[in-house]
Amino acid sequence: MYNTGIIRFKLFNDLYGKLNPIEGGIDIPFEIKRVYYIYDVQSEVVRGFHSHKRLHQVLIALGGSIKVRLKTPDEEVVYKLDNPGEGLYIGPNIWREMYDFSKGSTLLVLASQPYDESDYIRNYDHFITTNPYRS
Ligand code: TYD
Repeated sequence: MYNTGIIRFKLFNDLYGKLNPIEGGIDIPFEIKRVYYIYDVQSEVVRGFHSHKRLHQVLIALGGSIKVRLKTPDEEVVYKLDNPGEGLYIGPNIWREMYDFSKGSTLLVLASQPYDESDYIRNYDHFITTNPYRS
C-alpha cells in the first residue's frame, strides 16, 4: 500500500534490557514536530476514522497490542502492532482506524507537524472522492 510500511528501529540489547533510539530524519523519514500517546482505551473502542492531507506519522505500540486498519480507495490492510522495536509509517492520504487496544496498551505517535485540524479529512466519502491516488 502506498505511503505506508513497517520501520524496524535500531536495537541496543544487552544484559540490562533493550533500547530503541529514533532520530527524526534518520530513523524515520521526517523531522519530529509533535509526539502524543494514547492509552486507557477500552477494548471495544475504535478511534481514528480520518486521513491527513500532508501529515506523516509513525505509530508504535510501546506496550500491549493495537490493531490498525489502513485504507486507500483501492486497498485495505490490517497491522497488529505489538513490538516496541518497530513502527508503522503512515503518510498522507491514508484512512486509519485503531482498535483492539489490549488492556494496559500504549500507542505512541510521532508526527511531522504540529496539530492542525485543517489537515484532517474526517468524512470517508470525501476521503475517497478527493484522494489523488484514486484509480
Ligand atoms: P483525535 O484526532 O480525534 O484522536 P484519534 O484520531 O486518535 O481518535 O483527537 C482527539 C482530541 O485530541 C481532539 O479533540 C483533538 C485533540 N488533539 C490535540 O489537541 N492535539 C493532538 O496532537 C491530537 C492528536 C489530538
